[in-house]
Amino acid sequence: MFQKFRFRLIIINMVLVSAVIVISFFTVYNVTKQSLEQQSEIIMHGIAKDDGKITSVNGDLKNTKNPANIILDKVFCTRVSKNGDVLEYLQVSDFNQMLMKNISIQALSDSKLKGFLKHESYTFKYIKVEKEYGSILVFYEISSENYIFNRILTISMIVFLISLIFIFLISLYLSNKAIKPVKASWEKQNIFVADASHELRTPLAIIKSNLEIVMENKEESIQSQGKWLSNVDREIDRMSKLVEELLFLVRVDMQHEKMVFDKVNISYVINNLIDNFKPLLNKKFINIVSNVETDIIAMGNEGRIKQLITILIDNAMKHTPQGGMIDVKLIGNENYYEVIIRDNGEGIPEDEIGKIFERFYRVDKSRSRNYGGAGLGLSIADCIVKEHNGKISVKSELGKGSEFKIRIPYKRMERIDTDG
Ligand SMILES: Nc1ncnc2c1ncn2[C@@H]1O[C@H](COP(=O)(O)OP(=O)(O)OP(=O)(O)O)[C@@H](O)[C@H]1O
Ligand SMILES: [Mg+2]
Repeated sequence: MFQKFRFRLIIINMVLVSAVIVISFFTVYNVTKQSLEQQSEIIMHGIAKDDGKITSVNGDLKNTKNPANIILDKVFCTRVSKNGDVLEYLQVSDFNQMLMKNISIQALSDSKLKGFLKHESYTFKYIKVEKEYGSILVFYEISSENYIFNRILTISMIVFLISLIFIFLISLYLSNKAIKPVKASWEKQNIFVADASHELRTPLAIIKSNLEIVMENKEESIQSQGKWLSNVDREIDRMSKLVEELLFLVRVDMQHEKMVFDKVNISYVINNLIDNFKPLLNKKFINIVSNVETDIIAMGNEGRIKQLITILIDNAMKHTPQGGMIDVKLIGNENYYEVIIRDNGEGIPEDEIGKIFERFYRVDKSRSRNYGGAGLGLSIADCIVKEHNGKISVKSELGKGSEFKIRIPYKRMERIDTDG
């Protein structure tokens, strides 16, 4: 697929660049040619008007600084009587009499008032003007001009063909560069879909097998089958959580919706969450210590901030053994506030710290799945922090514990959708 796209990109690029080169060249070529033709015609008519008087510009015909002199050097005139006899040849150059005669006869035999004539290796342009004694013919020899223009055409064609090779190589290089990020995001997306399907398959398989047991014992009461049904219920909860998380990430990727920001009392939110977690933590014999500065108010999306802190406390709780401790701290300074969530749990291996914010990444996959983790929590946390223009960092030591630190600036005026 990418090969085809790349090929198309190269072709389009080459066609467009070639078209620009060809159009530019022919414009310059034609304008130059036409202006030279016009100039020579003006001079030829001037000579005819002066009845064959060929006068150089600035008095010196060899003064080639003026292009008109170059033209004059290649001009001759023939005065012809009313009955067609040649009266006189006039020139400042050295065309031989025979040539002038032959050319004049050719021009006279033609009824046109201007045109082109070929004689031996010469090409002449001529005009015919009526006079009281008959007519005057002005000839201008254009072989060298034609030769130069033909040379320009040939050389340009060669240069164009060589340029095509360069354009091809440049297009190849550019298409490669352009496709790389598209390919990377396509692959990332594919991995995401594959991981998501895989994560959804597990709860679906559990639901199916539990329902099968229930169906096999149709005569049993719902109460007696409660174990299987509660497994189904738990897995459905797990699936809805997963689907919700996936939807959130997809929306962030597509940049579909901007978070609505409002004034949020961060201190209140955190204290509330700690209170909500306390019964669960008590059950696991984990002690929670909090050090929350009062009345830290910042612009943000309250729902998402709650989700962010929940993800971090939930992780700390999952990875701290009985009798452990979780410390939640909120401090603010002039520009930003920081939330630090520390635990003295199992910690994260050093070489995995960099990966834990990746989607679906879990240090211990089988263990995490046991408590329902799909490995999306921290990637969602990272998105929320970024939406708040903040930063999330982690320090951890295996066997000693982990510390997650979030730093968020108070205001992001461009994101404030309400009066604040
Ligand atoms: N406080 C922590 N202590 C030790 N390891 C942690 C901690 N927080 C996160 N991790 C590791 O980082 C991994 C990724 O965390 P994340 O929150 O993204 O996923 P999860 O908790 O496994 O699943 P989910 O949050 O989607 O339910 C976890 O599986 C765990 O291995
Ligand atoms: Mg988690």
